[in-house]
Amino acid sequence: MLRAQRLDKIPPYLFAEIGRKIAKARAEGKDVISLGIGDPDQPTPDHIIDELVRAIRDGADPNRHRYGGDLPVKEFPEAVAQWYQSRFGVDLDPGTEVLTLIGSKDGIAHVPWAFIDPGDVALVPQPGYPVYNVGTLFAGGESYFMPLLEQNEFKPDFDAIPSDVADKAKLMWLCYPNNPTTAVADLEFFRKAVEFAQKHDLLICHDSPYSENTFDGYRSPSLLQVEGAKEVAIELNSLSKPYNMTGWRIAYAVGKAEALAALGLVKENCDSGVLRAIQYAAIKALTGSQECVEAMNRVYQRRRDLVVDTLNRNGWRLQKPKATFYVWAPIPEGYADSAAFASDMLDRANVVVTPGRGYGEAGEGYFRISLTYPEDRLQEAVQRIAAALGNYTR
Ligand SMILES: Cc1ncc(COP(=O)(O)O)c(C=O)c1O
Repeated sequence: MLRAQRLDKIPPYLFAEIGRKIAKARAEGKDVISLGIGDPDQPTPDHIIDELVRAIRDGADPNRHRYGGDLPVKEFPEAVAQWYQSRFGVDLDPGTEVLTLIGSKDGIAHVPWAFIDPGDVALVPQPGYPVYNVGTLFAGGESYFMPLLEQNEFKPDFDAIPSDVADKAKLMWLCYPNNPTTAVADLEFFRKAVEFAQKHDLLICHDSPYSENTFDGYRSPSLLQVEGAKEVAIELNSLSKPYNMTGWRIAYAVGKAEALAALGLVKENCDSGVLRAIQYAAIKALTGSQECVEAMNRVYQRRRDLVVDTLNRNGWRLQKPKATFYVWAPIPEGYADSAAFASDMLDRANVVVTPGRGYGEAGEGYFRISLTYPEDRLQEAVQRIAAALGNYTR
């Protein structure tokens, strides 16, 4: 059997690699604490589960078992539009400016099929969520990586992109609040991005699944708040992270209608939508009390403080992130690279951290800790890291 050549271009999926390492260490009887994957540990709030159960048992809905794409719950895009209006003051037409996704990963993987022909270029932030690049490669395109450097507050420098590359590019991915760097963006930055997209006639795809995972009173803006953004941009958001619904697979893209129609055409030919009961539950999440989101953020904020304070007591000089549920930190001096550090921490501290290199070359020199683990395990993990490092200089 010969695999398609396109698979040879795909870097190994980062979390699968980490998973294999953990399994091996655990099989050897080690108490491994994995801080690798960003998947909320707390359960989905009860009112959302109750709505799923109600909807799946609702004998009055003759379509409850059917394809949720062909028979969508029209109140879901309406709920998204209503949420965008109350949260960001952005008006959306639920019929044309909202598209339901099977998680934002679905949208990210399929956007290039709608806009990238073989040889086309997508501008991809690095370090970044690996699927921006992989989706581009699957469609036969090429990624031009925009490095997110600490001295630029982990924002791409649009002026550093050669104008022939920018003119050729069809798409630009952005992600704020950012995974993995935890950086946040303000409207001024989004304004510059929109101007850049207008100048070079490209589509911005702003992936913003952490917009609600924020701390210390910080509120993350939407790129669509910028005037004219809807003509050049779509924004992806997800129920996964704010409502602890990663396994449910429901998200949405909003913004430029023609772009969503093109993505919708791809999806119509790939999937059959989201189960209707999940769409009803997602409506409940968006329209119900948001206290559950605030409560979760208080938990992450405590965990963030614990991790950052412990690392800082042990020589790091980290700022506390305003958003996401990650900590992004430089590797200690003396390690050849982030993979060597991660591997040493697994071997000597039985702690899994994600090497920054896994998010692309520009992530080299850093590691990521996910805060989606109980406080006592986080505490033990960072203490083990500090103990294993002994007298390394940070
Ligand atoms: C930046 C980013 N985008 C997208 C996703 C995918 O989220 P979803 O569960 O909505 O597919 C993740 C998940 O970790 C992420 O970190």
